[in-house]
Amino acid sequence: MYKVGDIVEVKFGFTSKTGIKSRPSVIIDLHRADCIVIFMTKEVHKYKNEDTSIIITNDNLEQGKLKTTSILRLHKQEAVLKDNITIKLGRLNRKTMALLLKKLTFIDTQRHYYAVHHPAQTTPFVPGQSRINYAGRVYDEREMLNLVDSALDFWLTAGRFEREFTAKLAGFLGAKHIITTNSGSSANLLAIAALTSPKLGDRRLKRGDEVITVAAAFPTTVAPIIQHGLVPVFVDLDLGTYNVNVQQLEAAISKRTKAIFLAHTMGIPFDLDQVLAIARRYNLWLIEDNCDALGAKWDGKYTGTFGHLATLSFYPAHHITMGEGGAVNTDDTQLKQLVTSFRDWGRDCWCDPGKDNTCGKRFEQQLGTLPFGYDHKYVYSHLGYNLKITDMQAAVGLAQLDKLPAFIEKRQQNWQRLYQGLKELEEVFILPVIPPRAEASPFGFVLTIKNGAPFNRQQITNFLEGRNIQTRTVFAGNILRQPAFTESAAPYRIAGELKNTDKVMTDTFWIGVYPGLTAEMLDYMIERIREFVREKAW
Ligand SMILES: Cc1ncc(COP(=O)(O)O)c(C=O)c1O
Repeated sequence: MYKVGDIVEVKFGFTSKTGIKSRPSVIIDLHRADCIVIFMTKEVHKYKNEDTSIIITNDNLEQGKLKTTSILRLHKQEAVLKDNITIKLGRLNRKTMALLLKKLTFIDTQRHYYAVHHPAQTTPFVPGQSRINYAGRVYDEREMLNLVDSALDFWLTAGRFEREFTAKLAGFLGAKHIITTNSGSSANLLAIAALTSPKLGDRRLKRGDEVITVAAAFPTTVAPIIQHGLVPVFVDLDLGTYNVNVQQLEAAISKRTKAIFLAHTMGIPFDLDQVLAIARRYNLWLIEDNCDALGAKWDGKYTGTFGHLATLSFYPAHHITMGEGGAVNTDDTQLKQLVTSFRDWGRDCWCDPGKDNTCGKRFEQQLGTLPFGYDHKYVYSHLGYNLKITDMQAAVGLAQLDKLPAFIEKRQQNWQRLYQGLKELEEVFILPVIPPRAEASPFGFVLTIKNGAPFNRQQITNFLEGRNIQTRTVFAGNILRQPAFTESAAPYRIAGELKNTDKVMTDTFWIGVYPGLTAEMLDYMIERIREFVREKAW
């Protein structure tokens, strides 16, 4: 007959030295013969600053009346026999119950984090035995609390967390519009898709138009170009920065060239002065794949804020994570609407999930040959996708955003430590290069084995992997040598020679710099690389 949320008077044997004393309590769980209660106390002043306390006044009740304002200290829980309940005093209202139960869930979540995740995160590093990953999630209880908070909202689709994440990320970057999406790959797909919109008139990308990019790319920078009937034009890169060679870029431009789509490879900005100047000179769209470079700067300004559109990834390897996730950013309001349309089924309407009639003309427009007043929510200006994120993803991302400046700094410090430790090996390695006007937000530490070195990549990466140091290649290497190209008829053009790209495919690898790495781990990596080179030199 009792319910969770009931305020009852309970007899406690131990609360008074003189014997049994009755105390008002709130039931938070019920079993057959007993229940779990939280004591109420009048000592509001004493406990009001505890974040595990809730002040209760008569406004918090749906039944009954309190004699005085009281406080519930949520960690003061007790199992009592139902027989010891003497009287029902009232009942909390639904809003207060929701808050109380949410706070209890938070206490459990925090307990779970500190009992399960935190020990795993703080296990001492054992050289040779502990795995040194190339990247990984770095988080604490705040990400888990946000995730649980959004789960309890059960809003599911983009909601309050997504709005806050979007506003905060826009503020960080100094970007006008952020359009969240379910991955960096989706962000790339949307950036290209948006530029094919007929609403752009003559400037739209049409089948057969060319988009210049590099071949040592992440596959989903290139794939959307082909998927939209466009022709990727591949140019070579510079070793050290692993970014486009700007001379070759300009030489690659033809009458059909309409866009440039380049990543800031491994967190090192490409030459934005020159690439922007070329884009302007030839009236080309510029898309920055900023997925690996969040927080990098060119001339003091964040990468991703120079081109017409830019993309981000929030996969766990990246600078901040939400598991799966990504975003497109732009300062151009028309492009924002186009990206949003392609993301949201291709629709013309831009209502947020769960909202109707944001435009105020939902049933009052003549659109094309549609019947007058056709529901704007069901008008499609594009053949789009559904690539939206959930509020749970955004909730995790929001907690990560608070850590972003520290993450960037730690990545830079880790990169510097590796650089200082490995620069003596310049005889055998091409070390990474950060252009003078750039500030990198490193994704990893890239090494290319110089011609004539007494070892090859397979030997060194096997050596490192065997010592529990994870290694990676610069993505697809020369993507044209991947089965996706050799076993398909995908149209493309190569401008100039891809000599350095081929070298990257055979001789380049990278190791981690992510914020989860400690100085001890970095020094272990440096030592093992030095050891390998020493042994080979003999
Ligand atoms: C440069 C670049 N672009 C795009 C992506 C794709 O991002 P996502 O894994 O979120 O799809 C990645 C992934 O690592 C990447 O490195």
